[in-house]
Amino acid sequence: MENRIKLHDRTFRVLIPEARIAEAVAAGAARINADYRERKNPIFLGVLNGSFMFLSDLMKRIEFNCEVSFVKLASYEGTSSSGAVRDLIGLGGDIEGRDVIIVEDIVDTGRSIAHMVETLRRKNPASIRICTLFYKPEAYSRTIPIDYPAMNIGNEFIVGYGLDYDQLGRNLKDVYVVTE
Ligand code: IMP
Ligand code: MG
Repeated sequence: MENRIKLHDRTFRVLIPEARIAEAVAAGAARINADYRERKNPIFLGVLNGSFMFLSDLMKRIEFNCEVSFVKLASYEGTSSSGAVRDLIGLGGDIEGRDVIIVEDIVDTGRSIAHMVETLRRKNPASIRICTLFYKPEAYSRTIPIDYPAMNIGNEFIVGYGLDYDQLGRNLKDVYVVTE
């Protein structure tokens, strides 16, 4: 594994190697398997772009019949990328009465996930739970429970395994942290 990498103007070093990520994914999948075995065809809803690699590895370990779909939180045109108004796009099928498991790459302040849960609740699913690869408990400022956090991390900026720094780094198989 390449120990230091450069993305745009910043240098990153390995924080979490591939093997540790795989262990966390397997442990998360085991918890979901135990909780959902008796439920009828739950829907995994991956949040693009960051969750694509995690969702793919997670799904290979899910042992019950399920559906997989993807959504994206897009800023409305005309607002800055950090703008407060974000639109949930891509939700094709009906989720009324269904068990939904949102799959995120990372939950930081919780702003995105809170918006997503509010939007999905209006469509009357039977249940909504949140699965995320990374969770920053010190940054989290919402009350919605994060049901399946695969790994807790501190307030550091990470990339790799789907996560990006200004769109670069998503392809890395290990997770890197920005150096000072
Ligand atoms: P939140 O709304 O503050 O929870 O953060 C949501 C989004 O910020 C995530 O879905 C990521 O796209 C991005 N983000 C937060 N922390 C990181 C990080 O450490 N690396 C890369 N992206 C991050
Ligand atoms: Mg994201």
